[in-house]
Amino acid sequence: MNPLKNSFSPSVTKMIRMDHTYVLAAFHKYEIGANPRSKQALVATVCRALEIHAQLEEEIFYPALRTVSGEDATLGKSVSEHDEMRRLITVLRNMEPADPLYDRTFMELMRDVIHHVADEETILLPKAEQLLADRLGEMGTQMTKRRFQLAAPHVGDMTYNVMRASPAASMLVAAGALLAGTYIVRRAFVRHP
Ligand SMILES: [Fe+2]
Ligand SMILES: [Fe+2]
Repeated sequence: MNPLKNSFSPSVTKMIRMDHTYVLAAFHKYEIGANPRSKQALVATVCRALEIHAQLEEEIFYPALRTVSGEDATLGKSVSEHDEMRRLITVLRNMEPADPLYDRTFMELMRDVIHHVADEETILLPKAEQLLADRLGEMGTQMTKRRFQLAAPHVGDMTYNVMRASPAASMLVAAGALLAGTYIVRRAFVRHP
């Protein structure tokens, strides 16, 4: 593993916490009374970020933790919770934002994600930091590479949704969850001008 390249990326647990922070902040920007098109743009961005985050965890983080943690009830239900999240995302994508059930469905997604994130942050991430301490950096690098692969086909949609949302600045929070590029680039410049 190239140590220089490794240093550009946050550790895997730090990256997961960053994603959670961005998505929770985006949740807080959702307003029931906002223009339906703006709500739809925010929801689209959040849903894409959640899908990519869940896939990254399932491909990289959960398997590594599974190999060292043994039986773990929280880890055991994580993928089925992602599947329920994906089901709600599909419902939202097939629903008009003016539909009376739109707000309620998004709130259901928000509630599920907040519970799931709480479990990860209080149980799984600390466990990984104990049991996988020497692999966190390497896994962070792996996750960064895979994130760009997964995000690349959606950059156009993401930009469009950022522009549709109002206020635009709030959407940048959710866009950052998907790309998480600024942090990495900033680190690169600070450490390796
Ligand atoms: Fe998760
Ligand atoms: Fe997560």
